[in-house]
Amino acid sequence: MSAPTVTICPNADDLARQAADLFVRTAEDAVRERGAFFVALAGGSTPEKTYALLARPERARRIAWASTFLFFGDERLVPQDDSRSNFALARRALLDAVPVPDANVFPIPTDRSAAEGARAYAATLARAFGVDEKGAPPPFDLVLLGLGDDGHTASLFPGAPALAANEVWTTASPPGTLPPPVERITLTYPVLNAARSVVFLVAGANKAAALRDVLEGASPQLRPAAGVRPTEGGVTWLVDAAAAVGLGQT
Ligand code: 6PG
Repeated sequence: MSAPTVTICPNADDLARQAADLFVRTAEDAVRERGAFFVALAGGSTPEKTYALLARPERARRIAWASTFLFFGDERLVPQDDSRSNFALARRALLDAVPVPDANVFPIPTDRSAAEGARAYAATLARAFGVDEKGAPPPFDLVLLGLGDDGHTASLFPGAPALAANEVWTTASPPGTLPPPVERITLTYPVLNAARSVVFLVAGANKAAALRDVLEGASPQLRPAAGVRPTEGGVTWLVDAAAAVGLGQT
């Protein structure tokens, strides 16, 4: 794995602009080189500004939506129209505003148990990528991730069994310590680490300690984002100045 790229943005708005521009460039490259763009969207609140910028004409028109396939890094076990749903966030901020075919959007199923939803999503990944579910993990062109102030990413929480789920592509994850306290479904490290590009979006002073720990090589058991080490892909950290206060200090 190559060293991660860390870009410190002056503020969250600039972070969103840089993330949206990186998304567009990655999408253009993927479609040019392979004829399709496979991306896993991040949940939580930080990505909302980025999704809204992607929905604007100046960027949306640069994306080949018919060749773009949108998945989710994780989901809360709530209905798809629930305000806590990561799919609902993406639909409101981006999907309803761009001409992506419904068939190209793959929400994580939350109308069954978390374990059943995880199993179903793994089958969806295999089908959409055209790969064998027993084979190598599906290679996303881009995975967007957030960082919790406990160092979790997607729904990989400190000390959780999901951190050891290395034989599956998706798994159920009990509620973390952070809100909302609902069961979750998450992509696992094998899928995250098969990505061609992983981009973390991190804003806010409350993330500073976890960010510093992850970049200084903390244990994934304590700071699960530290376990995202793509075998061949690159990792980019887009962080705002508030989250970066602890970096570069001994
Ligand atoms: C989720 C996300 C989670 C999120 C972090 C950061 O479902 O909550 O997948 O991993 O990215 O908790 O969340 P914020 O962007 O809201 O700080």
